[in-house]
Amino acid sequence: MSSIQPKKLTVVGAGYVGSTCAHLAALKNLASEIVLIDVVEGRPQGIALDMNQSAAVEGFGSRVVGTNDPVDTYESDLFIVTAGRPRTPGMSRSDLLEVNGRIVCDVAESIRRGSPDAIVIVVTNPLDSMVSLMRAKLGFPAQRVIGMAGVLDSARFSWFIAEATGAGVADVDAMVLGAHGDSMVPMPQYCTINGVQVADLVPQDEVDAMADRTKKGGAEIVGLLKTGSAWYAPASASVAMAESILNDAKRLLPCACFLNGQFGFEGLYMGVPAVLGREGVERIVEVPLRTEARVAMQKTAGAILDDVQAMRDLDLM
Ligand code: LAC
Repeated sequence: MSSIQPKKLTVVGAGYVGSTCAHLAALKNLASEIVLIDVVEGRPQGIALDMNQSAAVEGFGSRVVGTNDPVDTYESDLFIVTAGRPRTPGMSRSDLLEVNGRIVCDVAESIRRGSPDAIVIVVTNPLDSMVSLMRAKLGFPAQRVIGMAGVLDSARFSWFIAEATGAGVADVDAMVLGAHGDSMVPMPQYCTINGVQVADLVPQDEVDAMADRTKKGGAEIVGLLKTGSAWYAPASASVAMAESILNDAKRLLPCACFLNGQFGFEGLYMGVPAVLGREGVERIVEVPLRTEARVAMQKTAGAILDDVQAMRDLDLM
């Protein structure tokens, strides 16, 4: 187990995603203090007590603090914001725009007040618009406000590739860019098994079917669960980003970043490959795109801009 750093990580929202993030971060000794905050009284405190008791078995050194008071989050180095309603069957992520938008505005206010130097990872859906809203409300440099989802969608694609090829999933690298929604852009050209192109191993129609299943990956789980959405892979993805930032590991991870001309887009958040380190997004990597992917990126940008316009119409931003 790695040694513990004197850092403060706050997870906002003690639902399944948030509490799993807090536990994974503790198991990895990512920060000396992990604050779990929620509006429901007793829930974050109870979860924190349970987690701290698991430390006696697991041997981690992080201390988990459960609270309802935003003051306890002040001076955090990093936030993972999971607060908000999940989808239920039949809903698109965009159906959550208004209810979760109001929650993000409240969360932004307390982060801005108490942790002006923090880096913020947004997980709340609809992801691409919630991260834009968070950035607008915080007024932080864009490199410090990042959206999760490319890591999650890529992990789903990796799993399907591992199942189809029989390869160990640890050897599979997949990449999904664009929005975290139906218009996301799986990138078969960047999918490899230890450097071997998946396209050389699997027929094109099977790759297309896996890409399509990836796009609907969240909805497939919502359909099975019926009462909410996925949490293990979303939490793993969020914590992978947090780990790269807190340990300055400079991993190249697909995540929602603010684009300033990269890939031909200006002034919007969208999923692209980025290097994450102690400064947050340290570099956006403009990988070459084939024509089909370029067209798909235009379409996904359109979907994100529609949601941003809907937030303006709701007077959220
Ligand atoms: C999913 C939710 C978290 O894709 O958006 O499972």
